Amino acid sequence: MKRVDDFRLKFGKKEYVPIIVGGMGVDISTAELALEAARLGGIGHISDAMVNDVSDRRFDTSFVKDKTRFYKHNIDNSDKSSVKFDLGVLAEATRRHVESTMQAKRGDGLIFVNCMEKLTMNGPRETLQVRMASALDAGVDGITLSAGLHLGSFGLLADHPRFRDAKLGIIVSSVRALQIFLRKNARLNRLPDFVIVEGPLAGGHLGFGMDWAQYDLATIIAEIVQFLKTEQLDIPLIAAGGIFTGSDAVSFLENGSAAVQVATRFTVANECGLPNKVKQEYFKASEEDIIVNTISPTGYPMRMLKNTPAIGAGIRPNCEAYGYLLDGNGNCAYITAYNQEVALHPKSKTISVMDKTCLCTHMRNFNCWTCGHYTYRLKDTTRRLDDGSYQTLSAEHIFKDYQFSVDQKVALPE
Ligand SMILES: Cc1cc2nc3c(=O)[nH]c(=O)nc-3n(C[C@H](O)[C@H](O)[C@H](O)COP(=O)(O)O)c2cc1C
Repeated sequence: MKRVDDFRLKFGKKEYVPIIVGGMGVDISTAELALEAARLGGIGHISDAMVNDVSDRRFDTSFVKDKTRFYKHNIDNSDKSSVKFDLGVLAEATRRHVESTMQAKRGDGLIFVNCMEKLTMNGPRETLQVRMASALDAGVDGITLSAGLHLGSFGLLADHPRFRDAKLGIIVSSVRALQIFLRKNARLNRLPDFVIVEGPLAGGHLGFGMDWAQYDLATIIAEIVQFLKTEQLDIPLIAAGGIFTGSDAVSFLENGSAAVQVATRFTVANECGLPNKVKQEYFKASEEDIIVNTISPTGYPMRMLKNTPAIGAGIRPNCEAYGYLLDGNGNCAYITAYNQEVALHPKSKTISVMDKTCLCTHMRNFNCWTCGHYTYRLKDTTRRLDDGSYQTLSAEHIFKDYQFSVDQKVALPE
């Protein structure tokens, strides 16, 4: 019977344990978590979501405070088109986050940064370009482009000195998305180094509609394997979404995937950025508590716990401080939903907005409890303590459980 450790992910001549810890913004997949994956010979992701805020928390900078002060005059204005990011600050925050992570790297694995394209930041092209270029300047091993169609993103880096040496990959949820990407990028003469194929059971935003339950990861991978074979393309595929045990991972590794990307199991790791209180909510969840809804202003369905505080919270849009989801014209679907509610209840001091949520603020405060479908199984991966809470686990324990377990077994902590 095979285990994950019988396989290796190959990039050129180098080999890695085929376990990738997925990016989880905002600083849920911390540097500490990513570094453990790399130390153990796999690949870890940090995320550059809301990186100015991450820098303030980690390095005591004051980027968010400075931006809020600068745009203070606009706080009561529903037109946010003037609220822009300072590209120099964005570069500096990215550099600090990536550089300090890379300096701490030990072991043979790699550190990638997850860049969500849907963070359009009231200037989609220039902000994405600065984010990616600064991460490469700061020495990151690779970039995973997520939540978007990535059609022009490789082009934004074409002149960067590391364009051909850094590992660049994309996340897709269908063979069609991959085909379009390859067609649009053909002129660059540079294939992605890896393609993460994310199925409908993943955490975070989904690359499916609300009919997500009709799709199945193994089927999508089989279609992509067939397509790559027909086109005679050799690109490592990474399966992601709902891979809960080492045995689940082996079945993908035996059927055309070069590695797996996992996240949900690591949300209850000591190194994960979620507060312990939230980790306990993940442990406690039962299957009915995990829902997919459309409250994310990005337009993508998102999976979360149904008791997540973000649902229905009617806070004032906080774009002067954050504004990561403002599109190129300064609009965000939450601002529209909020204004409609205010117009309906002009005299109310507090309102509830059910349709959309202020995702920046709630992700920043760990009040949007996004999670994978199998979160309800986390309680079976640990022990209950005397006070009734669940024991969080070391990232090493979870990583090695994926790497060495057989027979659908999950090793409990000491
Ligand atoms: C709490 C959480 C936050 C996530 N945030 C992001 C994100 O910011 N960007 C992204 O590309 N994927 C995100 N994901 C998806 C993961 O990176 C990963 O691909 C997926 O969840 C793997 O499936 P699994 O959770 O069932 O193991 C998130 C997942 C979780 C559980």
